[in-house]
Amino acid sequence: MKHWLPSLLIAVQLCAVPVHAIEAPESKVQSTSASQKMNSLVDTLMRKMTLDEKIGQMNLLSIGFDVTGPVVSQGVDEKIKSGLVGGVFNSYTPIAVRKLQQIAVEQSRLKIPLLFGYDVIHGHRTIFPINLGLSCSWDPELIERTARAAAEEASADGLNWTYSPMVDITRDPRWGRVSEGSGEDPYLGSVIAKAMVRGYQGSSYDKPDTVLACVKHYALYGAAEAGRDYNTVDMSPVKMYNDYLPPYKAAVDAGVATVMTSFNDINGVPATANKWLITDVLRKQWGFKGLVATDYTAVNEMVEHGLGDEAKVTELAMNAGVDMDMVGELFVKHGADLVKSGRVSEAQIDAACRRVLEAKYKLGLFDDPYRFISEKRNKEQLMSAEKMELSKEASIKSMVLLKNSNQVLPLSAQTKIAFIGPLVKDKRNLIGSWSGAGDWQKSTDIWQALDTKFGANKFLYAKGCNILDDTALIERLNRDGALLTRDEKTPQDMITEAVQTAKQADVVVAVLGEPCSMSGEASCRSNIGLLENQFELLKALKQTGKPIVLVLMNGRPLTLPWENANIDAILETWFGGTRAGEAIVDTLFGDANPSGKLTMTFPYSVGQIPIYYNAKSTGRPFDEKEKYRSKYLDVSNSPLYPFGYGLSYTTFAYSDLSLSSSTLKPSEALTVTTTVKNTGRYPGVETVQLYVRDLVGSITRPVKELKGFQKVELKPGEEKTISFKLTSDDLRFYDSDLKYAAEPGEFQVFCGTDSNSVKASKFTLVH
Ligand code: NOJ
Repeated sequence: MKHWLPSLLIAVQLCAVPVHAIEAPESKVQSTSASQKMNSLVDTLMRKMTLDEKIGQMNLLSIGFDVTGPVVSQGVDEKIKSGLVGGVFNSYTPIAVRKLQQIAVEQSRLKIPLLFGYDVIHGHRTIFPINLGLSCSWDPELIERTARAAAEEASADGLNWTYSPMVDITRDPRWGRVSEGSGEDPYLGSVIAKAMVRGYQGSSYDKPDTVLACVKHYALYGAAEAGRDYNTVDMSPVKMYNDYLPPYKAAVDAGVATVMTSFNDINGVPATANKWLITDVLRKQWGFKGLVATDYTAVNEMVEHGLGDEAKVTELAMNAGVDMDMVGELFVKHGADLVKSGRVSEAQIDAACRRVLEAKYKLGLFDDPYRFISEKRNKEQLMSAEKMELSKEASIKSMVLLKNSNQVLPLSAQTKIAFIGPLVKDKRNLIGSWSGAGDWQKSTDIWQALDTKFGANKFLYAKGCNILDDTALIERLNRDGALLTRDEKTPQDMITEAVQTAKQADVVVAVLGEPCSMSGEASCRSNIGLLENQFELLKALKQTGKPIVLVLMNGRPLTLPWENANIDAILETWFGGTRAGEAIVDTLFGDANPSGKLTMTFPYSVGQIPIYYNAKSTGRPFDEKEKYRSKYLDVSNSPLYPFGYGLSYTTFAYSDLSLSSSTLKPSEALTVTTTVKNTGRYPGVETVQLYVRDLVGSITRPVKELKGFQKVELKPGEEKTISFKLTSDDLRFYDSDLKYAAEPGEFQVFCGTDSNSVKASKFTLVH
């Protein structure tokens, strides 16, 4: 490697400095001598830095293609030259990154390289299913592979930092950002958070295909009131610690290098000014040693939150322990004055600057600031055949079969099938939101996939309706690049044509859902049913009396009571990524068997929200016959499709739930065993789920909590015995004093195919 800072490196060898604790995994700084080297380099560099240059490292600017807020950074080149920028995001490709890095290392006084960040959320160039979809695979190994592939592409495109994983627990499908996370469960969310960190950061920063991960949005962003983005969060500490904080902590435990603060306030204090959250919990309790960046202009937004003027909110964020200010530039504007007036200590700035420099060191940027720039790797990695294949695999494994009456699916290519709907020939929406570097024109749509597999002229087609008919909404979404159009034909003519087409077929496949711009950031909905015009089409198709398969593409759980009652088969495909078209066609025709399970509850109606499986019992649990019970008059308490739910073309039978003992001692393990048999005609994969209920506690406990899951592949007629080990550690929770311990007493244990369909047994945890 080229050493571009020779004078600094010589100085490093001469300095004796204290050893700072460094988190794994990272071979570059694993050993004491390696961490001494890092500290020496950083110390030496920081001794040369002015206060302004130190604060400059805390400045994170957006330059390039995308912005997600009102401020676009100006005059970035000049600021880099003056040493006033620590990192940039939204610029990628070897050419763009080299140009900016050159300014930093050739034209700034101290030649400190830049970090290059980007929102690589579910793939970089090769796009995988949206994260909510990926989570439905219940396959951490697969998810880790998608993150690894994304890191390989991103790092070959000049990037060294991704703003992912997003691990916000979400119980409100109105919130558009449910599409970016892993759903409602803290256990599964934690497993996936770790897998993604491992995927991005690999085993060692020494490799040039490793990028820094950034867990976000710290914290509790998914609990925004009323499912409205950026909204207030007010939550008890017990709920935070038990239900919402675990996935962030899991990412920290997995060695995540960076954390992004969230936009929301928490019990009155915005996350970005929240010293308790950033310094006490994250750094002191969890031992996080990496850097904390804000979300986009989150410091400035605290003026609007009502916390004071610009200088005041800057002081609050710096003193809370924020290291980098994303886009808002208030740190560079007010930081030095705050230090001079004693409102922020220089030690605080030093600590933040050090963390930014350490991140750069770990990435090897002080050895070679251009190590992520390689035309060769760029050519080899981007959208390689293996990554495209992985995209298809991930898409298949993310699909959830919600209904399949009379085995309508899989389809036979020998029958006459009409494909109807605005998403049959649509590429734009397949890659979902947060797919900035993805090229939607390179994705395969359903019609194209049919053509490749069978020849499309074998099938009937009608568009049936526009994705969206509401012109005001179309205009609004198109302002942000949605590319929505309305057909020249009238809605009625389109429906008539679709009905005529359907009448000629034996089976109708209706491909409907949301435009991808209706989920993701700032894309909340108060009504989460199918869009009205699409619903009209579906009702008209139903009138033909033909069997109907509904293929859904959407970024959140939808309310589908009519569809569930009237449509024969429903396949949830989310936004399945670059190869979604082929994945869907393979699945529809039985070359793949759906195995996904929901990670977010699908409600009957918006009025049931928030709705989630791990709820509390209440003192008056649901009873159909009793009046004074916790329930609604007009809808049941149960969801339409529960957490963990998903069908297969085959069927599975569970039997013989047994426990190795009826008691569990703290030092021992209990083995829970069940037998699963494939009782249908197709080979299939089942996700066996293990839940527990703590029957008596010092505080009220959820009616079920996921504690484990295993995927099992079974041929027709085959059966396997599945075992889980439970220890008292798995039964711990935070009590009202936030003490994390298991309480002795009776527990129920459940095994089954989803959170609702389970077999139960009992054991006692003894002292
Ligand atoms: C705002 C979003 O909340 C965050 O998720 C994203 O990483 C940043 N913008 C940067 O684009």
